[in-house]
Amino acid sequence: MTETFYITTPIYYVNGAPHIGHAYTSIAADVLARWMRMEGREVYFLTGTDEHGQKVAQAAAAAGQDPQSFVDGLAAEFRDMSAKMNISNDDFIRTTEERHKQGCAALWKILADKDEIYLGHYEGWYALRDEAFYGEDEVTTRPDGTKISPFGSPVEWVKEPNYLFRMSAWGDRLLAFYEANPEFLGPSSTRSEIISFVKGGMTDLSVSRASLTWGVPVPGDPEQVMYVWLDALANYITALGYPDESAPLWRFWPANVHFVGKDIARFHTVIWPAFLMAAGIPVPKRVYANGWWTVEGEKMSKSVGNVIDPRDLVKEFGLDVVRFFLLREMPFGNDGDFNRRALIGRMNSELANDLGNLAQRSLSLIARNCDAKLPERGPATEDDTEILSQAMALPGIMQPKLLRQIYGDALEDAWKVIRAANAYIDRQAPWVLRKTDTVRMAAVLRVLADALRPIATVLLPFMPGAMGAMLDQLGVPADARDFAALATPLPGGITLPPPQGIFPRYTGDAA
Ligand code: ME8
Ligand code: MG
Repeated sequence: MTETFYITTPIYYVNGAPHIGHAYTSIAADVLARWMRMEGREVYFLTGTDEHGQKVAQAAAAAGQDPQSFVDGLAAEFRDMSAKMNISNDDFIRTTEERHKQGCAALWKILADKDEIYLGHYEGWYALRDEAFYGEDEVTTRPDGTKISPFGSPVEWVKEPNYLFRMSAWGDRLLAFYEANPEFLGPSSTRSEIISFVKGGMTDLSVSRASLTWGVPVPGDPEQVMYVWLDALANYITALGYPDESAPLWRFWPANVHFVGKDIARFHTVIWPAFLMAAGIPVPKRVYANGWWTVEGEKMSKSVGNVIDPRDLVKEFGLDVVRFFLLREMPFGNDGDFNRRALIGRMNSELANDLGNLAQRSLSLIARNCDAKLPERGPATEDDTEILSQAMALPGIMQPKLLRQIYGDALEDAWKVIRAANAYIDRQAPWVLRKTDTVRMAAVLRVLADALRPIATVLLPFMPGAMGAMLDQLGVPADARDFAALATPLPGGITLPPPQGIFPRYTGDAA
């Protein structure tokens, strides 16, 4: 039986247009989804939009629209962003869809039937921006007297009759779960943060809002809607057909990886597993929290006016350059700064010079001196064997890193081999051999083509367009672009298409 692999992104709030932060998490998830498909696994990859809650309702009101038409418009923007970033999601869920609302209500009923939810009263802090409740000890007071959440969001005092989830009963079980499942939560900094948060003690969690109408109605109580995070988290199972556990997609549960940003790690690693355990549903295998991008040194915000739409970057630099840059520039779990200079630097040095030139030099020598035919393999020298074995080792070296979301390192592994291949071509100098030993020249060019193939294959999930073009130029058929196919060398003598530069240098204004 083929192994299933279920990958999710957060479902993004439709209170504003998509920006590079959203694209970032989606691209990282997409790389893993593509890689796992290339390993022959059966992948299900979900993304979507989070459309209820006070924040979205407020944004709709501010735009002077009814919430449903407002979210319809923005959901279309997020769908478009996914398509433009070449995200290979199998489904796109919207929390205003009937399938979701029904699944959500079913989850609620199970929790209520099991007495995990009771009608009570909530009094405490709420941050609209985080859509989160905070304890007294978590709120700090700014010099100007305003109070803020641990994530810097303004909080207000809320007092409502609410349904509460018996979160206080789950602290010890969660701690035991983290202990027994070290792979559940990464990176380690977030893991430590979450563990100390849970050790600090859990209080029951309000899971409904009485003061809001834009949400999924609480079953049996039309006066209240479900708390937007209970609603939102449920998307990961409602998309698979929950509560129908005989639904065809249910076999994908539990998720292999939930990709999230560090801002929402707590919801995914504390609240979500507690809901699931309480409902008797298996918990996800892993949650990974990516770090935070600032832009040219500043927090992205509408008021500063520095929000970057990834689609604009794509127009200027090309999609694959943007996808590559985001995962290459900063270690995935760390924070980092997005700036154009760094993007242009990597585009020119790593893509155009290192990888682009390697391919261009090798392929144009084949086109000109081998009658545009892939040469036969010659007798291998030590130098040949060394570069080939480095290139062929890449899938095995990179895969465990991708499974642990260490993207920057995995790319560095590929670049080590690319640099080694550039050193090889300089050492072997096929342009000199052309005049002195054409048999050896052909053998060297074949080694280069054979090294480029695994390089382009491991980079295909990162840069599907550009690496697809490179594999075309290397004569690799569409059905041989997976890891297993690497074991079968291409037949010598096949005609290669005319080589074309894959990564242009950026020559525009760097500012
Ligand atoms: O939190 N840097 O949605 P959201 C890196 N609807 N990643 C960023 C980022 C940045 N500057 N800005 C956003 C929500 N992200 C909820 C999720 S899931 C059941 C519900 C990414 O629109 C990052 O993944 O605020 C972050 O967690 C997510 O977008 C938040 O998107
Ligand atoms: Mg947010």
